[in-house]
Amino acid sequence: MLPKIEQIAKEAGEIIRSGYRRDFGIEFKTGVNNLVTEIDKKSEECIINFIKKEFPTHSILSEESGSTDKNSDYVWIIDPLDGTTNFAHGFPIFSVSIGVQKNNETIYGVVYDVMRDVIYSAEKNAGAFANGRRMNVSRNDDLNKSLLVTGFPYNIKENPNNAIEKFTAFLMVARAVRRLGSAAIDFCYVADGIFDGFWEVSLNPWDIAAGILLVEEAGGIVTNFKGEPITLSSKEILASNKLLHNQMIEILQNN
Ligand code: IPD
Ligand code: CA
Ligand code: CA
Repeated sequence: MLPKIEQIAKEAGEIIRSGYRRDFGIEFKTGVNNLVTEIDKKSEECIINFIKKEFPTHSILSEESGSTDKNSDYVWIIDPLDGTTNFAHGFPIFSVSIGVQKNNETIYGVVYDVMRDVIYSAEKNAGAFANGRRMNVSRNDDLNKSLLVTGFPYNIKENPNNAIEKFTAFLMVARAVRRLGSAAIDFCYVADGIFDGFWEVSLNPWDIAAGILLVEEAGGIVTNFKGEPITLSSKEILASNKLLHNQMIEILQNN
């Protein structure tokens, strides 16, 4: 299945790339900050049509069109365009994210970094790869020397879960903190040893399904802010190279 998932992520990526910095329709989901573009929908349509043709019995959970439950062991969890705000403004960081679960366990995760043309893929117990190159998380064990990444939910102005205090606290201890605007890519960069850790206070299943497996298969760990195991419905996400996990949990618990 993995080559097929990679293929459809790239096809959807083509649609996104050809819409980049062109005119496209924009709608608002829950207020002025939460957008969806015509391209999000086209990308999603392309992926869903492919699944219907190739794997007609499989269930689907997709960000823009919701869930199609076929009572299958297999569920595809899809973010057809992760980084919509970036895309809408022409900032070239966005991705397609596809995770596949079998009996509630993620067995495949694919993220396509559209503008860099990098396909990140992982299979359960078989490692994580970037364009075929095996990835490993970083070996940094000192939070003061870390490069971290985070993201903010669309309701950040309400400061959910003290997101702003947590962000400030990490700014004070890390070497630097980045905010890319595509959670799926944040996970990939942790898997590839670029970022040492990633946290976010409120994510959705389609943001995390592929990314969690990528980080785990590259030797990292993903939990909630207390260090407990998560499911796809968990909101708070902490991903790291393992070595920094406890140091990051301490900051998240105290802020
Ligand atoms: C968003 C991005 C962003 C994260 C937000 C997500 P979308 O997804 O992943 O990095 O901070 O929480 O909602 O809406 O662009 O698919
Ligand atoms: Ca997303
Ligand atoms: Ca999206």
